[in-house]
This record gives sequence, structure tokens and C-alpha cells, in this order.
Amino acid sequence: MAGLNLPSHLHIYMTMANAKKVALITGANKGLGYEMAKQLAQSGITVVLAARDPAKGESAVEKLKAEGLDVQFLKLDVTNKADYAGAVAFLEKNFGKLDMLINNAGISADGLTGTAASATTEQSLETTFETNFFAPIALTQALLPLLKKSVAGRIVNMSSILGSQTLHADPNSPIYNFKSLSYDASKAALNSFTIHLAHELKDTKIKVNSAHPGWVKTDMGTDAAPMELPEGGKTGVALALLDENGPNGGFFHLGQTLPW
Ligand SMILES: NC(=O)c1ccc[n+]([C@@H]2O[C@H](COP(=O)([O-])OP(=O)(O)OC[C@H]3O[C@@H](n4cnc5c(N)ncnc54)[C@H](OP(=O)(O)O)[C@@H]3O)[C@@H](O)[C@H]2O)c1
Repeated sequence: MAGLNLPSHLHIYMTMANAKKVALITGANKGLGYEMAKQLAQSGITVVLAARDPAKGESAVEKLKAEGLDVQFLKLDVTNKADYAGAVAFLEKNFGKLDMLINNAGISADGLTGTAASATTEQSLETTFETNFFAPIALTQALLPLLKKSVAGRIVNMSSILGSQTLHADPNSPIYNFKSLSYDASKAALNSFTIHLAHELKDTKIKVNSAHPGWVKTDMGTDAAPMELPEGGKTGVALALLDENGPNGGFFHLGQTLPW
């Protein structure tokens, strides 16, 4: 920048524009992704609200813009690699970096009640792993060069307490009787990605953590869930906003560490 000989006010403007942090949230047209987009934008972050369905994504963006929030739409089906280049180009062109990535898009192919392990189909496993495990890894890899351009990159993997092997194996744990192999294994695998990437990046400015939002009232969580959206959004948002002293490679719910 120094070599460009810019007028000083323009230089300051460009520095400020770059200083504003940018977050990308996948699957953000509804549910927890939408809630976290709202909360992050309310805390002064520019939010790229990614969704696979442009109509749903645009309408979510319009709602947040109507509240005066700085939110932009990006079409991104996390299982469609053809969308990745567009995401990289969009971020590159508009911001030249990415400060926060929340891998939020997720599915539960067998629903909340699940299917017995002995009856779980290969198709259920494949579909669930494609969205909940393979996609976050591939997308993170594609966006890592932009995250490395941030002064403090943050990656949040939206996991679940149902991904905890320790709690699933413990007859006294609250989730002992809530077993759905495809979903649970996909989140355990996602946690493994968190641990491995955090280790790889431990000497960089990037932090990688897994979040359990709580059992939250969304289409996935159903009306039976005890937690409302504003509370459910807090864990992922807090991990996206971690300062330099924050943890790396952990699994959290509302500030508490969860066992792997
Ligand atoms: N709710 C809970 O109690 C709870 C608990 C623990 C963890 N979680 C995790 O939190 C995350 C969000 O869950 P939620 O409760 O908000 O679920 P949700 O209401 O069902 O929303 C899921 C979001 O993911 C999107 N999505 C699914 N597949 C996608 C794809 N291939 N590409 C892009 N977007 C895709 C959906 O888009 P469409 O609208 O187009 O389908 C939707 O926006 C998930 O990872 C979930 O596993 C939720």
C-alpha cells in the first residue's frame, strides 16, 4: 500500500474497510445459521449469508438488511464443488480475506429419533457424511488461503453433543438413549477434523473449534427442543469472536468444554 502513493484519506478508508471483519456462514437461510448471521452482524461483522437456495437466501438477507444489518447473499450448496470457486471469487473480490467461517449447514437424514445401528443404510451414511463431514472439509480447504489473509482467522464447526463418543458410551449421560448412527458418527468425524486442523494450524493466527449449540427449536431440532434460537446462536458466535487468548481445538457449549 505504501508504494501506491494513495491520498492519505483514501488509504485510511481502505485500511478501515479491510479492518471490518467478514464472516461466512453456510446454511444460513434459516435456523441456527440465520440466527448466528443476525447475532454476528449485530456485533459489527459483515456477514456473507450462504444458502443453497437463492430465493430462500435472498429473502433471509432482505430480512436482516431491513434491520439495518450488513449482510450479503452468496449461493453455496456445500455439497456442490462447482459452487466453491464462486465463493472464493466473491470473497476475494469484495474483501480480499475471510475472518470467520462457520461450517453450519447440516442434515439429519434419519430424523431426530434415528434408526437402529443394525438397520442404518449405506445411503443414509453417505448422504449424511457428504453434508456433515466431507463438505466442511472440502469447503474449509478451499477457503483456507483467504482465512490465512485474516489477522485472526476463526473456523467454527457446528457439531453436536450427539457427536461425543464419551457421552454416548456412558450409561449415565443424558444422550445415552438418543442414538442415530449416521448423524452421530458424522459429527464425531467432524470433531476429528476440528482436532486435526487445529493441530495443523496451532502456530498460526487461526483457531478451529467445534460448537454444540444446545438442543434448539429449529426445523431440525423440532418444537420439542427446550432452547430458543437466541440462546442457541450464542456458542457458535462466541467461538467466531474468540480473541487471541481463546482456545484452539476444543469442543464447547456455552463456554463449557464437552468431552470428545
Ligand atoms: N437444532 C439443534 O438442536 C442442533 C443441535 C446440535 C447441532 N445442530 C447443528 O447445527 C446446524 C444447524 O442446524 P439447524 O437446527 O439450524 O438445522 P435446520 O433448521 O434444518 O437448518 C439447516 C440449514 O442447513 C442448510 N443445508 C442443508 N444442506 C445444505 C447444503 N448441501 N448446502 C447448503 N446448505 C445446506 C439448510 O438449507 P435448506 O433450507 O435449503 O434446506 C438450512 O439452511 C447443523 O449442523 C446441525 O447439525 C443443531
